[in-house]
Amino acid sequence: MLIKIPRSSDCSSSQITPERVYLSRRTLLGSSLAGLAIASLPAGARAADTARYAGVDPGKAPGWFSDKLAQARWGAVTAGDEAITPYKDATHYNNFYEFGPNKGDPADNAGSLKTEPWSVVVDGEVGKPGRYGLEDLIKQSQLEERIYRLRCVEAWSMVIPWLGFPLAGILKRVEPTSKARYVRFETLRDPESMPGQRSGFALIDWPYVEGLRLDEAMNPLALLAVGMYGRELPNQNGAPLRLVVPWKYGFKSIKSIVRISLVEQQPGTTWQGLAPSEYGFYANVNPEVDHPRWSQARERRLPSGLFSPNVRSTEMFNGYGEEVASLYSGLDLRKNY
Ligand code: MTE
Repeated sequence: MLIKIPRSSDCSSSQITPERVYLSRRTLLGSSLAGLAIASLPAGARAADTARYAGVDPGKAPGWFSDKLAQARWGAVTAGDEAITPYKDATHYNNFYEFGPNKGDPADNAGSLKTEPWSVVVDGEVGKPGRYGLEDLIKQSQLEERIYRLRCVEAWSMVIPWLGFPLAGILKRVEPTSKARYVRFETLRDPESMPGQRSGFALIDWPYVEGLRLDEAMNPLALLAVGMYGRELPNQNGAPLRLVVPWKYGFKSIKSIVRISLVEQQPGTTWQGLAPSEYGFYANVNPEVDHPRWSQARERRLPSGLFSPNVRSTEMFNGYGEEVASLYSGLDLRKNY
């Protein structure tokens, strides 16, 4: 892959495209994306923002998403001056093993996933358990755009403009009991639409499961995403609902969630179960604790290639230490990797 980020895209986050404007115009007029984006950008940021969002597939968002988008809070969290990863890379270089083991498999195969209607079971230590339609679960939350770094344990990274809801608000609404100490998340199990779950070669014991300590889940950075790049989530990125915890390795950000359980005991998780010496429960981004088979000190920011490797130093907690380091005071992060 030899795509180079145009330098013009390195503009400051205050210049981010008002997607709301360009999306609505795009829908109304059906004209070329690039032309519309240019028409709606702030002065001085035109070329840059066009490059960031070039090629965004319009998607076919359900009504509730369009309604939320119209009220969205743009740029709620930004990534400073870091350039957003081109949409094409964010949607064609994926890990979603339910759809195959190669980076291009999710984009090729996830079209078979039916994401509408979608419901999420909330159970365990909560005052308001039940099966919630996605619309109902997020009804009272305001959609926010948050631009986060995503650092995969495999030592590549991206910068993604997510659209989602703070996880804390949704958890509070289902009223965790005093016994709740962890949150367990589960992905859809549907071998019919998910070739990876049908494969005899997959080592994963489906469904994919992830977990957070309750105080981590309540941290304001933890997000339940329903969209990215100004549109609903593409299937390969975890439609219609995925977790995003930007200070942790990407495998914690579980996709296509169908169950959220508040539990007393630390839940077993997919990667920890597969290789406990390689993948811990915490999985906080930590350049000082190497993976047993490779260093975590540096990362390859996508897009990267032979002549433009785009390698940079990895930051503790992926650069979010100010917001999250206090969650781990007194914890040995070498043991609790
Ligand atoms: N969620 C499920 N259900 N299945 C997966 O295979 N892969 C994880 C995470 N969430 C995965 C998942 C890994 S390893 C990473 S790095 C991120 O999703 C990748 O997210 P992206 O494809 O949107 O970049």
